[in-house]
This record gives sequence, C-alpha cells and structure tokens, in this order.
Amino acid sequence: MKRRLNGTGWTIRPPGLGGMPLSIAGRPDETQAFDVIAAFVEGGGDFIDTANVYCLDDSEIGHNERLISRALARIGKRAAVLVATKGGLRRPGGAWTVDGNPKWLRTSCEKSLEDLGSDAIALYQLHAPDPQVDFGDTLGELIRLKEEGKVLHIGLSNVECKELEFALRHTPIASVQNRCNPFFKRDFDNGLIGMCLSKGVAYIPYAPVGGNRGHARLPAHPLFRRLSEKYGASPYCVALAWLLQKGEHIIPIPGASKLSSVRDAQRAGDVELERDDIALIDRLPDE
Ligand SMILES: NC(=O)c1ccc[n+]([C@@H]2O[C@H](COP(=O)([O-])OP(=O)(O)OC[C@H]3O[C@@H](n4cnc5c(N)ncnc54)[C@H](OP(=O)(O)O)[C@@H]3O)[C@@H](O)[C@H]2O)c1
Repeated sequence: MKRRLNGTGWTIRPPGLGGMPLSIAGRPDETQAFDVIAAFVEGGGDFIDTANVYCLDDSEIGHNERLISRALARIGKRAAVLVATKGGLRRPGGAWTVDGNPKWLRTSCEKSLEDLGSDAIALYQLHAPDPQVDFGDTLGELIRLKEEGKVLHIGLSNVECKELEFALRHTPIASVQNRCNPFFKRDFDNGLIGMCLSKGVAYIPYAPVGGNRGHARLPAHPLFRRLSEKYGASPYCVALAWLLQKGEHIIPIPGASKLSSVRDAQRAGDVELERDDIALIDRLPDE
C-alpha cells in the first residue's frame, strides 16, 4: 500500500513512524532507539515524523532529530526516508509551550537543518498556531523559509478548517497533522479531514492508537479485542487499519519505543476491515 503526499512527488508506505517516544520522558536507551528506527526502515517504512522539541527540556532541543539522522546514516538510508519535522514550540523546564514568533521559527528551522544534517527540510510543519502571534505572521515566515530553499514543503499541525483555508490562500500546504484515533474523531465531525481530501492535502493523524498513555485502552477494549481475533491482527493494527481505510489521504504515524510495537504496526496495511466493522468503530463515543 502506498499513499501519495500530494504536491510533493513522494509516495509513502503507511504507517509512518512517530519519533516522539524515543526522546521524551521514559525514552529507551540509544541502542534500543536505533534498533527501532532500523527495524522500521528494514520493514519497508519510509516516513518518520519528528520535531525539534522531542526531548526532555529546552537544554537538549533537537534530540530526536539528531537521533533519527544518526540512525539513518548508520544504516545508509538517509535518502530513502522522508523525515518531517516541526517548529513553533518550546520546552522550558520540560513544559510544552507555543511560540509562533517568526524569529523563533527561523532559529528553530536553521537548528533543525543542522540537527538533521540536511540542506533542506523535506516537510516542515508548524507545530501549533500561537494565539499570541498573528497566524499570518507565522505563516509568512514559513513561506520565506520555503522561498529560501530551507524548507521544501509546508505542513500545519493542531489546526482547524479556518487556519487551513487561510493558509491555502497564501501557499501550498502539503499536510495537516492533528490528533485523531478511534477515541478522538473530532476532525471527521468538523469537516477538516474532508477538506484535506478535497484540497489535496495529506492528513496525518497523531496519537493514532490513542496516545502516549491512552494506547493501553486498545488491548483492553471489548470491540478491539473482538476485531483483533476476527482479523488475526493486533488491536493496534485494527485501529490503524480503520484510519487507513477512512481515506486515501490519511497517513498515521504511530509512535514506538519497542521493537515489537514498530514491527506490529507495520502490518496494519495488510488488514482489510469489512464495512460493518468500520462502522462499529465510527460509532464508538469519543473518550
Ligand atoms: N503534532 C503534535 O502536536 C503531536 C502530538 C503528539 C504526537 N505527535 C506525533 O505523533 C506520533 C504518534 O503519537 P504518540 O506517540 O503520542 O501516540 P500513539 O502513536 O497513539 O501511541 C504511541 C505508543 O503506542 C504504543 N504502540 C504503538 N503501536 C503499537 C503496537 N503495534 N503494539 C503495541 N504498542 C504499540 C507504543 O508503545 P511502546 O513505546 O511501548 O513501543 C507507543 O509508545 C508521535 O510519536 C509524534 O511523532 C505529534
């Protein structure tokens, strides 16, 4: 199964890999992190999501980007994998704060280029709009970074329809990355996923199996247990298959810190849910 990242010329084999668990609190040691990335690529994976702020705090900004860059270099696969990163947050004392100031975005982007060891960032995503900064100003800096060749394609994250509409009036947008999983379906209800499809924008669900802690709901959930047995696949693969079947422009990026997780998630593309089972997941109430 391949998914087109419209407007970029890339096709991707979903799911991608979310890099966050390899660098935040509770992260594995570096050997295990390298093994997870290597297993993902050896299993056919070609899309990794990261961010400058995937780290413990602002003293080690870029931890995840450096890790991914070194792991890919070690296995000789830097050119074969699309690494998407983000800017627009900070980690003071380990907290997560928004900073959409154009100056910070530029500093972040230039540091990400260094940490990724790259001449241009393939997909640079605004991590989140900053309510204190005019969205047009933040977007304007992203457009300048693209014009300068530091960024090849622009993505948005944690946005609503109105921000995507605004951005599309000024520049091509390759992707939208928002929280979406069987227990959080807001973007299906508010029309954002439909808007992405009609505008040729890839939709990248983050926390696709329920999130850093919330993923534990899946193996305990009666419906996912039943479907897991029926399809001979893990409850995680059932959740990912549901997302994949909800739209050809949807590219989930499950995180993993264990080899077993990354290997299992890569089987999701082989699971074909029947229409009635998709509808059962559609009807689950948000939690
Ligand atoms: N744009 C944003 O604001 C934003 C916010 C959050 C996340 N993200 C991105 O989205 C990615 C995914 O989100 P997330 O990592 O928070 O949540 P998630 O993908 O829903 O859940 C991640 C956890 O699920 C477990 N898991 C995944 N697949 C599994 C499988 N097949 N079998 C068993 N366990 C499995 C992993 O456990 P183990 O660790 O034990 O392997 C992992 O830590 C992040 O890594 C990050 O790149 C973006």
